[in-house]
Amino acid sequence: MSQDGSFSDLDAIEKKALAAVEAAGDAEALDQVRIQVLGKKGSLKQILRNLGGLTPEERPLFGARANVVKEKVQAALDEAKSRLGSPAKPGAANPSATEDLTLPGLMPERGSRHPVRLVMARMSRIFASLGFEVADGPEVEDEWHNFTGLNIPADHIARDPSENFFLTDDLLMRSQTSTVQVRVMENSQPPLRIISPGKVFRPDEVDATHHYMFHQLEGLVVDEGMTFGHLKTTLLTFFQQLLQDENMKLRLRPSFFPFTEPSAEVDLWWRGKWMEMGGCGMVDPNVLEAVNIDPEKYTGFAFGLGVERVTMASYNIPDIRYFTENDVRFLRQFS
Ligand code: DAH
Repeated sequence: MSQDGSFSDLDAIEKKALAAVEAAGDAEALDQVRIQVLGKKGSLKQILRNLGGLTPEERPLFGARANVVKEKVQAALDEAKSRLGSPAKPGAANPSATEDLTLPGLMPERGSRHPVRLVMARMSRIFASLGFEVADGPEVEDEWHNFTGLNIPADHIARDPSENFFLTDDLLMRSQTSTVQVRVMENSQPPLRIISPGKVFRPDEVDATHHYMFHQLEGLVVDEGMTFGHLKTTLLTFFQQLLQDENMKLRLRPSFFPFTEPSAEVDLWWRGKWMEMGGCGMVDPNVLEAVNIDPEKYTGFAFGLGVERVTMASYNIPDIRYFTENDVRFLRQFS
């Protein structure tokens, strides 16, 4: 019955084919096995052509069994092929044959924090250690929060459209972070001790010290019995902690801001020169009244520091434009 095809012949074909796959040393030998077993004139095809000795019931069973053999042999061939690789492309399926694993890997390029953000975070940390909380406000503001609530009269030069980025008649890109003072006082009663770092916008011509977008860090304290002494001590302590330099000096130079009275410019002496860092003063009673805080009971002080200025002083950066040019040779130095 063997030449007519039998189940034991199928077993034999399977056993022989799998052994041949196992023994094959290269892709070419594998291909020979494939042709001899699965090819047009291969042993599996041959045996399926001679089913005369089988009963009609046996034939479909035999066919099914032959299919299983075919799949097993094909799977063994595939597996062996990926193990041995294809002769046409030596080493392709076997990287270790062609790749030098001792070469250094490809390092992903990591970004670094922007120096302005870095210094802003450092400033915020110091103020946090002095008991200040961080408050936030929108970059698009209305005239009330940017001017009116801050005691800036309607005809003040700071409100001129040429001095601001107005979006509508009433909305503008905020020109100062002092806006957050009004927002905080509108929503809560003293004691208040907040800082608010963020972006401000002014249509200034760009040069080494001016930009149309920069950062300020606003501070506000309102409580009973606050004096100019508290203001000066707060700023002095802040700069001492920031710069860690006993030779640094702070000077509060008389000035004017509509929302503080008295007002002063904050000057810093460091590394042999005076530098303007911002403005400060005692909160004007009109500002407190506008947000329904009793100026007879409470006094307060406020300050606004230029973050770019502090950053430029800290790192000796000569030009404010470096911050927005995005030259990685500059930015990388702060990682
Ligand atoms: N907002 C002022 C500016 O942008 C800076 C400033 C001055 C803020 C005095 C204050 C302050 O809080 O008390 O020029």
